[in-house]
Amino acid sequence: MAGFPLVRMRRLRRTPGLRRLVQEAHLSPQQLVWPLFIKTTGSRTPVEAMPGVFQHPLGEAAELAAQAAEAGVGGVLLFGLPASKDELGSGAYDDNGVIQQAVRAMKGAAPELVVITDVCLCEYTSHGHCGVIRNGAVDNDETLKLLAKTAVSHAAAGADIVAPSDMMDGRVATIRQALDENGYRDTVILSYAAKYASAFYGPFRSAADSAPKFGDRKSYQMDPANADEALREIALDLEEGADLVMVKPALPCLDIIRRARERFGAPLAAYQVSGEYSMIKFAAEKGVLDGDAALREALLAIRRAGADIVITYAAYDLARSGGI
Ligand code: PBG
Repeated sequence: MAGFPLVRMRRLRRTPGLRRLVQEAHLSPQQLVWPLFIKTTGSRTPVEAMPGVFQHPLGEAAELAAQAAEAGVGGVLLFGLPASKDELGSGAYDDNGVIQQAVRAMKGAAPELVVITDVCLCEYTSHGHCGVIRNGAVDNDETLKLLAKTAVSHAAAGADIVAPSDMMDGRVATIRQALDENGYRDTVILSYAAKYASAFYGPFRSAADSAPKFGDRKSYQMDPANADEALREIALDLEEGADLVMVKPALPCLDIIRRARERFGAPLAAYQVSGEYSMIKFAAEKGVLDGDAALREALLAIRRAGADIVITYAAYDLARSGGI
């Protein structure tokens, strides 16, 4: 068996050219998905909790789509901030809602750009929960109807992919059936299959104004202590007809990404969520670490764990620089 001094692992680390030659994991622009927050009016507003991220008015949607297409990102993922909220989150399935308008503008400006819409009610409900409240709790089956309506209205606006993030049971099957019945047989479903009740969503909730007004999301999102359960969630969503499945958050779930990669053949996405992104950005702002290097390292780890598609707020900047 060959060993030292015949084998010297450092030989291949000696120059940038050699390191590049043997680099195993890559992240190319087309594997990156860029999340965007779209609001109805006003001007572009920086999100305080997420350095470099903005809430964009609808008027910028077409331009953003052109930019995203030009940078070569794999797709954009849209989140909406509606003009008003109510108990049933009716803004989510309003054919003239913020996301429906944004999708039309973006597909008009860049027809080839893959437009993904987040399907959930929490940005649209006055109470901030991801579903309908009955007797103080989120009612699963009542919520399914509204999620299906939302997905159909996104598909009608031209979304290529709908991405349910609510974690209700049975939503993939319900959405698939509603899409098919309405003539959207080819609209893709990317399910947030293994989505944990994570503290790392904090900055997002201020960006999307979607924090629950009472309680938390632990009765529908997963317990971070559980791994086998994540695989059951993914298996069920695939059985229900999900085309793509997602693990979220990403860096705290590298084990889940790896196990999902090994267990299932379906394309796998991982979401580097707001808190994962912001903790790096703020640490960099404080001068305690190199932000670009840390971001790349985290994203490569997610890819190395087995994600095919990586959703990150840094997607646009990374795509412009050619990926990793
Ligand atoms: C909506 C949704 C959330 C995120 C994506 N879709 C928030 C939540 O579940 O509370 C989080 C994304 C992020 O933190 O970047 N349900």
